[in-house]
Amino acid sequence: MSDVQNEFEGLETLDDRHVIGRRIVWYEETESTNDDARRAAEAGEPEGLVVIADVQTAGRGRMSRTWTSPPGRDILFSVLLRPDVTDLPKMPLVAGLAIARTLDEFTDQPVTLKWPNDVRVADRKISGSLVESGSSNSGYFAIVGTGVNVNMDAAAHPDISNIATSLRTLTGKSVSRLEVMRELLSEMDRIYSSPEHMGTLVSDWSARLETIGQEIDVRWGDEFIHGIAEGVDDTGRLLLRDGSGELRLLEAGEVTTQLPGQ
Ligand code: BTN
Repeated sequence: MSDVQNEFEGLETLDDRHVIGRRIVWYEETESTNDDARRAAEAGEPEGLVVIADVQTAGRGRMSRTWTSPPGRDILFSVLLRPDVTDLPKMPLVAGLAIARTLDEFTDQPVTLKWPNDVRVADRKISGSLVESGSSNSGYFAIVGTGVNVNMDAAAHPDISNIATSLRTLTGKSVSRLEVMRELLSEMDRIYSSPEHMGTLVSDWSARLETIGQEIDVRWGDEFIHGIAEGVDDTGRLLLRDGSGELRLLEAGEVTTQLPGQ
């Protein structure tokens, strides 16, 4: 059994899972867990598969950025979901809310969301998700890929030292990846599997959004839009009032935002 499988073995004993974690696979090293989950989806894998890696050699974030994490420190995983097509745009919200609620259990400081799906504590990013969708003979699917900084030392990585944090940096002690992962999969499953939680998803998620009311710059394809974030609609799209006074509706999957001073 590999070290990483050994460490995460306890996940198989979770008993409150309904969908997420029906099958869990571990890799010591892979290119990107999102690609592994996508290949499985295209081969007809049922929803609920979780792919975990200790190291990714081509981990990616949104807007073609790379996602770096030192071996053995953090959480890197992807979940294959097959929601109703109308719920596909909500998958980034499922991830963001589940991560925020999970991190509430591990830090006393407020956990907030920067639209669309950065999870932040103490003004620094601690987690992000990359949701990719597709379809094959077996129907539509979403790959929800998440990275959570658990024990990394952001100060050791000059490219992110000013903008990132980890649970260890916040609490001053090493945190069990297994415990964070167990709580996070349960929370994702709790939200995704329950019509009640899905019903309040947008309002629960937007209650944590630090972006609302702020002036932001948004990249929409090749276009840059400056405006004020007025809120989100019932699928999580950002309502942005641009410089000409027009209200724009922006989907999470296609844009990136920057708060002033970041
Ligand atoms: C972002 O904040 O830009 C999203 C980061 C998503 C990173 C995770 S790590 C696991 C999964 N595999 C990837 O290649 N990316 C996601």
